Amino acid sequence: MNDVAPRRLTLTVFRYDPRAPERTPRMQSYEVEEADGMTLYIALNEIRERLDPSLQFDFVCRAGVCGSCAMLINGRPGLACSTLTKALGPEITLAPLPAFELIADLSVDTGKWMRAMSERLETWIHAREGGIDFARIEERMEPAVAEAIYELDRCIECGCCVAACGTALMREDFVGAVGLNKIARFRLDPRDHRSGNDYFDLIGDDDGVFGCMSLLGCHDVCPKNLPLQTQIAFMRRLMAAEGLKPSLKQGDGK
Ligand code: SF4
Ligand code: F3S
Ligand code: FES
Repeated sequence: MNDVAPRRLTLTVFRYDPRAPERTPRMQSYEVEEADGMTLYIALNEIRERLDPSLQFDFVCRAGVCGSCAMLINGRPGLACSTLTKALGPEITLAPLPAFELIADLSVDTGKWMRAMSERLETWIHAREGGIDFARIEERMEPAVAEAIYELDRCIECGCCVAACGTALMREDFVGAVGLNKIARFRLDPRDHRSGNDYFDLIGDDDGVFGCMSLLGCHDVCPKNLPLQTQIAFMRRLMAAEGLKPSLKQGDGK
């Protein structure tokens, strides 16, 4: 039996609704009693159910899979549903992720940002000209290649890496670690027939891999522990080599 009295937690939460601009942004504090196995998501839900139904925040899966509950937890991007309150002190500050459009309170529109980035980087398989090569799509993929692709596909588009990146906060067109990771993923895929030249056109500039200043906040906060540092360094080397090969620009340098 656990005789220790439960902690009282104070959650101080950013409040602002851009649709009600007459109410200025403010921080609001709520007290909850900590329960066993409590996550920030559970604490926020309790606040919304018992104390303040107007509090806005996002969640879908509650299992670290959908990426929608990302927020600044004591100033660091993270997932509310995967963060246990016992890992934090009794005073907790929550704010929306920067770099994304604020919907209200802790809720931001990461979907809009991710969609724009995906369209710009064309994050889908580009089959050979003339249509999909079904024979190739059915072809057995080397297990090591499939595994490497699977590893990078674990990205849940939560936006933590973007919120933790100084470059992304300064340059709104920077594709962020999430975008560079996606290009690394498609470059590995033998079904994608884009050339090295095509990839260079997508990320070989300051909005892509050459805008990254190796700050590595992305790598530190990614809740899926993706190997962002390695992927970015690899893509930078590859794109630097590609940029030095003007004579191959017409060929398939993949
Ligand atoms: Fe989130 Fe990591 Fe994907 Fe960035 S790379 S969006 S931090 S899962
Ligand atoms: Fe940003 Fe990560 Fe590069 S934090 S600057 S994308 S290493
Ligand atoms: Fe889906 Fe947190 S609710 S990742």
